[in-house]
Amino acid sequence: MILETIITSLSPDGTAYLAPMGVHAVNGEMLIMPYRPSRTLDNILATGHAVMNHTDDVRLFAGCLTGRRDWPVTATERVPGWRLACALSHAELELVSMEEHELRPKLHCRVVHEANHAPFRGFNRAQFAVLEAAILASRVGMLPWEKIAAELAYLRIGLEKTAGERENEAWSWLMEKFDAFRQGQVQETEIP
Ligand SMILES: Cc1cc2nc3c(=O)[nH]c(=O)nc-3n(C[C@H](O)[C@H](O)[C@H](O)COP(=O)(O)O)c2cc1C
Repeated sequence: MILETIITSLSPDGTAYLAPMGVHAVNGEMLIMPYRPSRTLDNILATGHAVMNHTDDVRLFAGCLTGRRDWPVTATERVPGWRLACALSHAELELVSMEEHELRPKLHCRVVHEANHAPFRGFNRAQFAVLEAAILASRVGMLPWEKIAAELAYLRIGLEKTAGERENEAWSWLMEKFDAFRQGQVQETEIP
């Protein structure tokens, strides 16, 4: 199963670096697979540790994809680093081994500590919509625009029916990113 998390890793200057990552949970092991080049990869290799943050505040996912990486963090308990202050729960990871790959290495990690911080209050379709739109935003320029537009049109249905303030704010950040991308594309095609 793949868990959509915010990975916090420790930067060389001691600050937290946040990145959304889909972590593969396989028989209790956590597999992080960053695409090169990746600051998350560099930080984990340098420190031997990472933190998985489970949050239902989807602004974290949309925020990281739109240049909003400055979110409150709290010191971790067993490994050097930081966790998200808003995490419902988090898991502190130790890097066990790495499978080298030129594009997407596999970081095999084990959980050394887990903690709960706040109740999970239930599923929400708008949160799913924002997560999916954030993934599309991370691939803008790689996917045909028609495919992105069709998927956003579908995702908007669940968003409009079920979103709260956080989901609407996250969605608006992503739409700004798509608009800026489209603006650039249109201008490019207009230049003779
Ligand atoms: C839900 C979600 C899951 C993602 N999963 C991954 C992943 O598994 N690997 C990856 O390299 N990028 C993933 N991304 C994109 C990264 O978050 C994004 O490219 C980020 O800037 C990579 O961090 P870096 O600064 O370490 O390169 C994901 C994005 C989203 C929204």
